[in-house]
Amino acid sequence: MTGAARRRRLRGAIVGYGFIGAQGHVPAYLGRDDVEIVAAADVCEARRALVRARLPGAAVYPSAEALLSAEAGRLDFVDVATPPCDHAAIARRALEAGVHVLCEKPLATRAADARDLLERAVRARRVLFPVHNYKHAPVAKAIAEVIRSGRIGPVRSVTVDTFRTTHGRGVPEWNPDWRRQVRWAGGGIAMDHGSHALYLIFEWMDGWPTAITAKMTNSEPSRWDTEDTLSAVLTFPSGLARVHLTWIAGVRKVIYTVHGARGAITVDDDELQVSTGPTAVGAGAPPPQVERRTIASDWMDASHTRWFGSLFDGFLAAIDSGEYAGRDAQDACRCIEVIEAAAVSAGDGCRERRVGAPAARAHLAGDAPRTSGALSASWRSAARAAGRPPARRPRRRSRARRR
Ligand SMILES: NC(=O)c1ccc[n+]([C@@H]2O[C@H](COP(=O)([O-])OP(=O)(O)OC[C@H]3O[C@@H](n4cnc5c(N)ncnc54)[C@H](O)[C@@H]3O)[C@@H](O)[C@H]2O)c1
Repeated sequence: MTGAARRRRLRGAIVGYGFIGAQGHVPAYLGRDDVEIVAAADVCEARRALVRARLPGAAVYPSAEALLSAEAGRLDFVDVATPPCDHAAIARRALEAGVHVLCEKPLATRAADARDLLERAVRARRVLFPVHNYKHAPVAKAIAEVIRSGRIGPVRSVTVDTFRTTHGRGVPEWNPDWRRQVRWAGGGIAMDHGSHALYLIFEWMDGWPTAITAKMTNSEPSRWDTEDTLSAVLTFPSGLARVHLTWIAGVRKVIYTVHGARGAITVDDDELQVSTGPTAVGAGAPPPQVERRTIASDWMDASHTRWFGSLFDGFLAAIDSGEYAGRDAQDACRCIEVIEAAAVSAGDGCRERRVGAPAARAHLAGDAPRTSGALSASWRSAARAAGRPPARRPRRRSRARRR
């Protein structure tokens, strides 16, 4: 459907009315006049009761399957906001039903599923669009703008530090600690927060990585079967990027640095600093020019409702232009490949893993992706191995299959 043809409001359904559904997505939908949520599904009766109260006009179902069977012909899109383990299956079913898909991160918990979804979206001529909402944080938009302006020159190195004092808790009516359970989450902080760090890095480095080395730790292995901390270094054609994500920090905070040939950007939550000009050091050396800005970005509000509007505009633009598996979807796929590779590296004493992505990101609106880069180890086994040496080295694949 084109923008000109889209005179009526888009009819959407939400699957998973938990924290992000209720606090992030639905408030954003209710504030728009170009979309209405006409149906919702949740496996938890208490959550279904809440959605009925909030959206009295919406049809409410106990599963995505029931919703799609009953509503498919009447829907434009489905918003998948369940825990990650079900993202791929729900998105696949929605594409089969001929419905565009907006999917929370991670797009899937296995790279093979993510690649399959991209191919299906192109074949079905329906948009697959991940919720890469950190790109829409005002301070992240400011970083992208400075890079685009050329002020700091070509970017050669990026660091992303995300500090959290605990894992994010889901709604109490269902399973608030699913993020620490591989069965639901598919992994720990790497699977939960890794996508945000990685797609920001892809954007700032303007490429995909070719290799990764990673370390993961789980400070409470008797309670949880997922890691709470990831440290990783990624190799890009233009330089290195480093990621540190943790749920056991002493403070909630993001710190980003982006270093170019002629300057640097540093971000500490809402505080952005751009340094340009002379880089010489020593007595008498002229100081760099430093611009400081405070850019309110609502970092402390985990629902990030304010970022959702601009993200949803991107989804609508993809629908209007027929960009079925565009850059965001490709980035989502790369994120999962890199997260899988990180788990394998961490389980193998930080040994570097190649990631099978081409260096340059390409638009793929109407073509199926041709790159693979699959890794043989599943997250489950890799995550179990995280933090302790594996009993034996993961089986090496044949040279032909390695990239
Ligand atoms: N982009 C962001 O900034 C952001 C922030 C928070 C959460 N998220 C993502 O949103 C998703 C949900 O996270 P949350 O914090 O809202 O979790 P949550 O536990 O609060 O909510 C999950 C909801 O899904 C329901 N559910 C579970 N399995 C289901 C299924 N198969 N079908 C239908 N409903 C099902 C549960 O009953 C619950 O109501 C996750 O993928 C998470 O990573 C993203």
